[in-house]
Amino acid sequence: MTNEMNDELRNQQSPLKAACRRIAVANQKGGVGKTTTTINLGAALDKAGKRVLIVDGDPQGSLTSWLGLNGGVGDREIGRVLSGLIPFVDAIHQLEESNLHVIPIDHAMNDLKWVFEAKESWETSLRKEMNSWPLNYDYIIFDCPASYNPLLVNFLVAADEVVIPVQTEILSLNSTIPFLERLSEIRNTLNPNLKIAGILPVMFDSRTRHSQEILNRMREAPNLSKFMFATIIRKNVRLTEGPMRFRTILRTSPSSSGAMDYMALAEEIIRQEGKTEIEANSPDKNVTLTFAEDSASE
Ligand SMILES: Nc1ncnc2c1ncn2[C@@H]1O[C@H](COP(=O)(O)OP(=O)(O)OP(=O)(O)O)[C@@H](O)[C@H]1O
Ligand SMILES: [Mg+2]
Repeated sequence: MTNEMNDELRNQQSPLKAACRRIAVANQKGGVGKTTTTINLGAALDKAGKRVLIVDGDPQGSLTSWLGLNGGVGDREIGRVLSGLIPFVDAIHQLEESNLHVIPIDHAMNDLKWVFEAKESWETSLRKEMNSWPLNYDYIIFDCPASYNPLLVNFLVAADEVVIPVQTEILSLNSTIPFLERLSEIRNTLNPNLKIAGILPVMFDSRTRHSQEILNRMREAPNLSKFMFATIIRKNVRLTEGPMRFRTILRTSPSSSGAMDYMALAEEIIRQEGKTEIEANSPDKNVTLTFAEDSASE
């Protein structure tokens, strides 16, 4: 990207957008569709007319390489923002053929842990840096890492809301409970405004009883049911093809079930706009979830 382009992106950041929603797509479990959700939800919100920035917050760099940016990131990536080397707005890229804006990550930034721990109040680094810019977006979405590390803490502190993708299978469901407890901790200490935008059932396979049973359990479980999105993301092979083509599903297969599901999710999230009742939509102080120990039968 040229310097002129960079200036243009900086200029687009004013005037201040009052109602920018910062959403962390997060779950401590790996491979549950966090990156797939970040990219395709971002694209769907963009298609619905919203101004969207997506941020790769995982040193694996899946989102960055999915969008074909890993060759041309240069210095403009989230690791250098978190290290205090460049301002947040200077890390933004605009995708070709799309209005989506993206902050990629450099794979070499795996050691951010030490950068953070050397700083006082490292937990709030990103939030402070973002708050010092008038960011002109409706949505900023963070693709979070699977492990509970200083990077994830920074994103959960910088965010106002969390979308939690959960695969409709028993192991994924069970590993969600400790994550909800972590969110309660963050809310009770570093970020009292953190809300759960919703728990998102993903990779739902209507052909198996297991998928259906896990979905039922999620919708019936005390302390969990109130967080469930109505939208379900079905298993769809088209969603796995995006990375090969550096495109979101809305471009590669706009009439697929995957594209329709992510459009439905975007609409559900847009309907939440302006809701202020934090209590109704926040992790409880002490999350206690009751699930049967047995795994559901196939
Ligand atoms: N609805 C879906 N249908 C079919 N495959 C899917 C679906 N959602 C995600 N996948 C596939 O599942 C795998 C894991 O998805 P993804 O990379 O988005 O998960 P993740 O939570 O970001 O993983 P990690 O923890 O490694 O960052 C990928 O191969 C992706 O293509
Ligand atoms: Mg990922």
